[in-house]
Amino acid sequence: MARRKKLYEGKAKILYEGPEPGTLIQYFKDEATAGNGQKKEVFEGKGVLNNRLSEFFMQGLNQIGVPTHFIRRLNMREQLVRQVEMIPLEVIVRNFAAGSMAARLGLEEGAPLPRAIVEFCYKDDRLGDPLVPEEYITAFGWASQQDLDDIVALALRVNDFLSGVFHGVGIKLVDFKIEVGRIWDEQDYPTLVVADEISPDSCRLWDIETGRKLDKDVFRRDLGSLTEAYTEVARRLGVLPSNI
Ligand code: C5P
Repeated sequence: MARRKKLYEGKAKILYEGPEPGTLIQYFKDEATAGNGQKKEVFEGKGVLNNRLSEFFMQGLNQIGVPTHFIRRLNMREQLVRQVEMIPLEVIVRNFAAGSMAARLGLEEGAPLPRAIVEFCYKDDRLGDPLVPEEYITAFGWASQQDLDDIVALALRVNDFLSGVFHGVGIKLVDFKIEVGRIWDEQDYPTLVVADEISPDSCRLWDIETGRKLDKDVFRRDLGSLTEAYTEVARRLGVLPSNI
C-alpha cells in the first residue's frame, strides 16, 4: 500500500487518511481478539473475508436507503469510507437470547425474545464496553435523546435487512452489533450513518438446519476453524473471494 498516514489502529482494523478530505481508508486485519483482547489469534484470510462481507452488507443497506459510511472497496483488504464523527456506543440488536444477555438474565441460549431488543454499551476498552442505560448516554452527552430514537430506528432497519438476507441463505441472525456515526453535511442537524463494519466478527449467525455457529463464537468458544465458518458465510452469500 502507498504510504498513508495511520490515524487509528484497533483490534481488527486500521484507519488511514483517505485520498480526499472527508474520506478514510479502512484496512481489515487478520487478527481476532476476544474477552476484550485477552484472547488473540491470527487467522489468515479473515481480513479479506470481512472486507468482502462488510462491503456486501453496507452496499445492500445503501441501496435500500439506510445510510452507511461505505463508499467502495479498494482492494482485497481495504475500503474507502466517509469520515464520520463516531458516537461512542456499541448498538446491539438481539432477536434470540445469547451471549451476555443469556448470562445476565439466566436465559437459555437461542430462546426467542418477545421482540427485537436494542441495547447500548459504552465503547471503552479499559472498562470492557459496559452496558449503559439511555439515561447515562443523554446525561453524559454521548448522544441526545433524538439521536437515540434515530439510532434505534436505524438499528431496527438494519436488523430487518440483515435478518432477511441471512434467512435467504439458511442462517439465523441471533444478534449483532453496529456502530453509528454522524455526518454534518452543511446542515444544522447531522445524518446518522452505520459505520465501522458488519461481519461475522460482530454478528451471531447460526445455521438454521443444524445450529452450527458461523461467527466469532467459533473462536471465543474454541468450536473449530474460524476461517472455515466465515468462508461458509461468504460462500452462501455469493461473495467468496476467488483466491481464498
Ligand atoms: O457479548 P454479547 O452477547 O453482548 O454480544 C452481542 C453481539 O454483539 C454479538 O453478536 C457480538 O459479536 C457483538 N459484539 C461485538 N463487539 C463487542 C461486543 C459485542 O461485535 N465489543
